[in-house]
Amino acid sequence: MGPIISIYNPSKLVFGADSFSSFVADIITSGAKRIFILTVSEILEQVESGFAQIRNSGCEVAVNTDIRQEPSFDDYKKLLAKVDQFNPDAVVGIGGGSVLDAAKLIAATTGNEVKIEEFLKGNKKLNRNTQLICLPTTSGTGSEVSPNAIFFDPETGGKVGVIDPQLVPDAAYIDPMLTISVPPAVTASTGLDALTHCIEAYANRLANPINDLLAFEGIRLIGQNLKTAFENGNDVKAREKVALGSMYGGMCLGPVNTGAVHALAYPLGSNYKIAHGVSNAMLLPFVLEYNLEAAEEKYANVALALGVDDEGNDKETALAGIQLIREMIRDFKIPGSLSDLNIGENEIEEMAHSALKIQRLLKNNVREVKLQDAIDIYTKAK
Ligand SMILES: [Fe+2]
Repeated sequence: MGPIISIYNPSKLVFGADSFSSFVADIITSGAKRIFILTVSEILEQVESGFAQIRNSGCEVAVNTDIRQEPSFDDYKKLLAKVDQFNPDAVVGIGGGSVLDAAKLIAATTGNEVKIEEFLKGNKKLNRNTQLICLPTTSGTGSEVSPNAIFFDPETGGKVGVIDPQLVPDAAYIDPMLTISVPPAVTASTGLDALTHCIEAYANRLANPINDLLAFEGIRLIGQNLKTAFENGNDVKAREKVALGSMYGGMCLGPVNTGAVHALAYPLGSNYKIAHGVSNAMLLPFVLEYNLEAAEEKYANVALALGVDDEGNDKETALAGIQLIREMIRDFKIPGSLSDLNIGENEIEEMAHSALKIQRLLKNNVREVKLQDAIDIYTKAK
């Protein structure tokens, strides 16, 4: 028998093109009267008539676009003050991972005596009393279905994962039409982040049969459709399949979570402000090469899901899969090395020390990563 598996998903999950209209209809009848919507300006035109319908039904709606990119605890606190003043009974996040993560923590702490500092110290439990609804506008983080929210902590200079079942939204609406206008570069980097979630969950010390199903299918869907979504953003079928794969990856983040790719990517985000998807994509093949000896069969399955031919033995098949990932990164014009990201070799040791602090993820990795191993992986990626 494997480990005990606990899985928390949104109570209501709505998937499909134009499911944004289901969100509008549902929130109007939900009884919520004061709705705080955190979103991004790029999507406003597309959602404006839905917002008008919600307002016309008699609800008070506040729309905020303060969160632009990977939020810090300072950003969160400034936003929380505004949200507390508005006093919502529902918080809605419509955006990429940064917006959704912020909306999740805001919903869990607004109008609430439990402060985030006390939760982080382990003194108090989160106690969300505000409805939380998420709609992703990128196919990447899977945050709409996960209990995770990631923040930059200016005190430590690193990223902190706030993880709690209370951060799982009450409802998630995954509408691929909201991702249609995402530009190719963002489609590629967020899509590869989603692929990384699936691969790191599938080959993971906490891997389990339920999440294996989701992760394997996520790898297949993203691996076989991301290129089309990148080349032709208007291809609704491809967008739909990548969105589904991203959601499957998100469903693995709670019970299994990620591993060394994400742990080693964090310092690139914290220290050099490299976008989450780009840093993960760049490191993915290097970490897979390092991990390979610990999980050859699983990585061979990853390769087969990506669409490579069976090479006759697991190691060769897995290597062909890693090669395919390298080709995807190149085709998508994503930086393939630290030097492509303007990060010098002299930075490696400090990054390795930072990455080693992310034990909450490294402990899941199929192969143990010590300081020298992290240095070696970064050095291969230099
Ligand atoms: Fe990620």
